[in-house]
Amino acid sequence: MTSAVDEAGLEAHFEATIAHKDRIEPRDWMPEKYRRTLVRQIAQHAHSEIIGMQPEGNWISRAPSLRRKAILLAKVQDEAGHGLYLYSATETLGVTRTELTERLISGAQKYSSIFNYPTLSYADVGTIGWLVDGAAICNQVPLCRTSFGPYGRAMIRICKEESFHQRQGYELLMTMMRGTDEQRAMVQESVDRFWWPSLMMFGPPDEASPNTAQSMAWGIKTHTNDELRRRFVDMTVPQAEALGVTLPDPDLAWNEERQAHDFGEVDWDEFWKVVGGDGPCNAQRVAHRKKAWDDGAWVREAATAFARKQEETADHGGAPTTPTTSAGPASRTAEEETA
Ligand SMILES: [Fe+2]
Ligand SMILES: [Fe+2]
Repeated sequence: MTSAVDEAGLEAHFEATIAHKDRIEPRDWMPEKYRRTLVRQIAQHAHSEIIGMQPEGNWISRAPSLRRKAILLAKVQDEAGHGLYLYSATETLGVTRTELTERLISGAQKYSSIFNYPTLSYADVGTIGWLVDGAAICNQVPLCRTSFGPYGRAMIRICKEESFHQRQGYELLMTMMRGTDEQRAMVQESVDRFWWPSLMMFGPPDEASPNTAQSMAWGIKTHTNDELRRRFVDMTVPQAEALGVTLPDPDLAWNEERQAHDFGEVDWDEFWKVVGGDGPCNAQRVAHRKKAWDDGAWVREAATAFARKQEETADHGGAPTTPTTSAGPASRTAEEETA
């Protein structure tokens, strides 16, 4: 058992590590609240990657060309990978992927509210890449320097892939804008639907975000929600101009004095409604995830039985067996979950 004196020393060491902007690693001592905050934040991020496969996965079978299908398939698979790195980072904090998935399905843990909106046209694939992955990049680039080592390292790799996602979305929209009037109208209609939900991705305004101050003190977060939202608007407005679309905000204007954009107020009632489970697709998203989890039960059982058998063989001095059926079904489940 750790004595009070030891605990004070450990805490001082933890605080010093944070102050030096060094990383906290899984075996290091950390305050219980720091651990819990990280589990909540990383799990919510992992769930967003996995649930986020659904709105775009919806269009894989209806992509307008083989090239578009290949790009979209690669993008959705990347999101599965992001979810898995992040669940692994959470596992280093002592919570299993199974527990986290159960918390997602039961509604005890959240995912980003943006994925509760439907994808109604193929232009939404482009808009999601441009705006949703764009907002994710704004949120996530600072997280590459977050204080918890496994999370920061996962973010470095994820951010590289997110910038590919944003470019593919922008390139798709640019192609459509060079097309017919109908295609241009499709892009505008899609941007009209996704603009405000994208701004909501940064979370509630600072005054309604009670955890921010502590997360910043611990180096988990490095910028507030409103700072990141403003950065996203400033980054996106010139891109919208280059694309030739109008962002649906009459209050959006350049402020010469601040050298930044002014913009309208997000509909926070809508945000809280969607976060609270009452968005257009909340029930559908969670039900789909639950079905995929239930359908995959046999794969998890088989993998566990196989691992046990391998352990027993090793205990008896035999060589570990190689799976004769290969990892076929198990390795395919992540992709199948989007179907
Ligand atoms: Fe992602
Ligand atoms: Fe992405």
